[in-house]
Amino acid sequence: MSKITAAITAVNGYVPDYILTNQELETIVDTNDEWIQTRTGIKERRILKGEGLGSSDMAVPAVQGLCKKRGIDPMEIELLICATATPDHVFPATANIICDKIGAKNAFAFDLLAACSGFLYALVTGSKYIESGQYKKVVIVGADKMSSITDYSDRSTCILFGDGSGAVLLEPSTEGYGIKDSILRSDGSGRVHLQQKAGGSVKPSSHKTVDAKEHFVYQDGQPVFKFAVVRMADVSTEIMEKNSLTADDVAWLVPHQANKRIIDATGRRMGIGPEKVMMNIDKYGNTTNATIPLCLWEWEKKLHKGDNLILAAFGGGFTWGSIWVKWAYDTK
Ligand code: ACO
Repeated sequence: MSKITAAITAVNGYVPDYILTNQELETIVDTNDEWIQTRTGIKERRILKGEGLGSSDMAVPAVQGLCKKRGIDPMEIELLICATATPDHVFPATANIICDKIGAKNAFAFDLLAACSGFLYALVTGSKYIESGQYKKVVIVGADKMSSITDYSDRSTCILFGDGSGAVLLEPSTEGYGIKDSILRSDGSGRVHLQQKAGGSVKPSSHKTVDAKEHFVYQDGQPVFKFAVVRMADVSTEIMEKNSLTADDVAWLVPHQANKRIIDATGRRMGIGPEKVMMNIDKYGNTTNATIPLCLWEWEKKLHKGDNLILAAFGGGFTWGSIWVKWAYDTK
């Protein structure tokens, strides 16, 4: 019997309607469009407005659209993994809530937390259930309402983040399409540079932590930047070398969208020109677990069966990794 690989057979995305521009941010904090664009490449980002809405409210339309595109009923989903750093609640898992809202009653579901690398971690985890032959329909959804943990009085972080969701369907392939190889890494000593200080068991939320704004993202930008540039480029070149892939063999680099300068540096190290690098950070900012599937969604029509894609991410933890994907379909 031929080896089973986990092919991505559909992709979908969802972003909220509200557009928070650099110009609007100029009215909120002491910043300017030129600084933001030069340092990050971001022009605008989407924000989920409305009381009582969370990450699941963006994941639901993303997954429903995914099922519709592939012509499957949510009841056919056997496993759904939600990669998120901003779950609806600490518990239950947002994945459970998504399954309830879409009627995926046959799925077992869980959340996976690896900050901005979460989507890659979840993709690899989900692929193992396909490769083992246990499941035939696995959904990986990345969803983050970063605006819920962003301090809009901190100019060094509030310019970076946006809200959104993206999802892919994994199904078995016996022709070698899908997840071909992966390298995932983590280094918890990096936690001091990028974290949400309060709200967990070490420092439960209290009046004191809220007053100190410790329920928001804390980031020490420069060390994170330095680690991200080196690690994302290292791991992306490593996966190419490991699989004897040259820059010519790679159709697309699909990088996590944290900073245009990090993306450019990664492409350069891989010898891949900007024309083969997916980049939509200008429109969406850093949507954490949604950046990579949102890129796949936007570029879907340009992807061809057999294309080699390198997915790469770096995030809080620290966590980082890269995945080699052989694209499984042409879009009509
Ligand atoms: N507007 C204007 N000036 C600003 C702003 C702003 N929005 N923010 C900071 N500045 C100022 C600073 O105060 C500083 O001024 P000073 O020199 O007078 O002190 C100056 O600009 C430079 O600040 P830096 O922090 O050194 O700016 P840097 O070039 O490092 O850019 C940035 C900051 C964009 C955050 C960058 O460090 C970065 O992208 N870091 C990595 C982000 C990342 O990859 N995160 C991982 C994924 S996220 C996740 O996992 C949740």
